Amino acid sequence: MLPTPPESLRVWVGPFADAELFRASGTRNAHSIVELCGLKPDARVLEVGCGCGRIATALASYISENGSYDGFDVAAPLLNWCRPELQPRLPNFRFQLADEVHAPGHNPSGTKNAAEFSFPYASGSFDLVILSSVLTHMMPEAIENYLRETCSLLGQLGVHQCVSLRRGRSHRSDQRDDRLRLPPQAGPMLDL
Ligand SMILES: C[S@@+](CC[C@H](N)C(=O)[O-])C[C@H]1O[C@@H](n2cnc3c(N)ncnc32)[C@H](O)[C@@H]1O
Repeated sequence: MLPTPPESLRVWVGPFADAELFRASGTRNAHSIVELCGLKPDARVLEVGCGCGRIATALASYISENGSYDGFDVAAPLLNWCRPELQPRLPNFRFQLADEVHAPGHNPSGTKNAAEFSFPYASGSFDLVILSSVLTHMMPEAIENYLRETCSLLGQLGVHQCVSLRRGRSHRSDQRDDRLRLPPQAGPMLDL
């Protein structure tokens, strides 16, 4: 079994003082992603705001050696755990720190506005982009930018996936801001 992050990091990303709950919630989200997005084992997956690997560890047994997982996050303590603990055990999984991005509560010392941040990957690099409980932490201009960046990374056949850990909050489909509508080629936006 892959290592589980310490409690101080688990509670950073959600109500996961219980290590078993942390693992089970990742597994449940990963199953939903595979099923609802039709994710194939050889897919190229990006997770924006990957935290301390809750979903990455759950996807690890599903993504084949022909597929890949990339995750980035603004919070150094989370990535400082993922990189040495997960990367050596999962050769096709990579974790990247974007600590230049300012994020209140997660990276207050970042100097770059999230509304102006370009994701550090080439266009069309991914088949699936996961944003799990990330947009909920961001202002509207930054959300618009992240959705634009997501669409550019996906190319024609991508699926955009948005998971909320807190049901019934601001990005439920019935409350979604019209300015944030995705182009049709971006595929469905799902709220699990
Ligand atoms: C509630 S946690 C969810 C973590 C992970 N996605 C999961 O589902 O376990 C929110 C994450 O978003 C990250 N985050 C916040 N603002 C961000 C931004 N502007 N860009 C990228 N990640 C961000 C935080 O550092 C944190 O890891």
